[in-house]
Amino acid sequence: MTTKTTLTTRAHELVREHLSSGDIAIDATVGNGHDTLFLAQAVGPEGKVYGFDIQQHALDSCYRRLLEHKADKQVSLYHAGHETLPIVIPATLHDGRIKAVMFNLGYLPGGDKQRTTQISTTLSALDSALRMLSKNGIITVLAYTGHPGGKQEAESVAAWAATLDPHIFNIRVEKNSHSQRPSPELIAINKLPP
Ligand SMILES: C[S@@+](CC[C@H](N)C(=O)[O-])C[C@H]1O[C@@H](n2cnc3c(N)ncnc32)[C@H](O)[C@@H]1O
Repeated sequence: MTTKTTLTTRAHELVREHLSSGDIAIDATVGNGHDTLFLAQAVGPEGKVYGFDIQQHALDSCYRRLLEHKADKQVSLYHAGHETLPIVIPATLHDGRIKAVMFNLGYLPGGDKQRTTQISTTLSALDSALRMLSKNGIITVLAYTGHPGGKQEAESVAAWAATLDPHIFNIRVEKNSHSQRPSPELIAINKLPP
């Protein structure tokens, strides 16, 4: 694991193991839509992806990407913080079929660096995602430590994950092993099958 790109790819690899055509997935931080597109292609036209971002222009950028790849039909984008997850997607909509939730923390690349994810709303969304996740589903959190507040947010997510019951959840943390300082971290939480 040597670059940020590799950790993004690694998150996709881990999520792909849990997703099939027709599944439901959530992109909790849409940004420019790379993860949303990945999820939309993984679940296919029979599946469903819900995406959240607090910046409309991020959602617009994502929507253009989805259109380019003809993957827009299975995606609903919400101009809302991920802390509204359980309100926007009540149980009646997902029926326990959410197989993957991806978080890519920090700020929008090429955008306003002040508009970052925040510890309190990130942890609130993670708690909700955990409750909504189906058995054998996965949550991935890619946390960046180089911007103001990023290291504290990454540590808070790691501390939150460490409190989870190991009989119910498998937690893995992956970091870049070389050079890049400060380096991002990938935290993956798998809800074990019964
Ligand atoms: C690192 S970017 C995401 C990159 C994206 N996954 C991609 O593939 O391009 C982080 C995004 O989180 C968004 N964000 C910040 N706070 C948020 C919140 N409470 N809920 C949802 N999105 C949020 C930012 O607006 C930004 O677009």
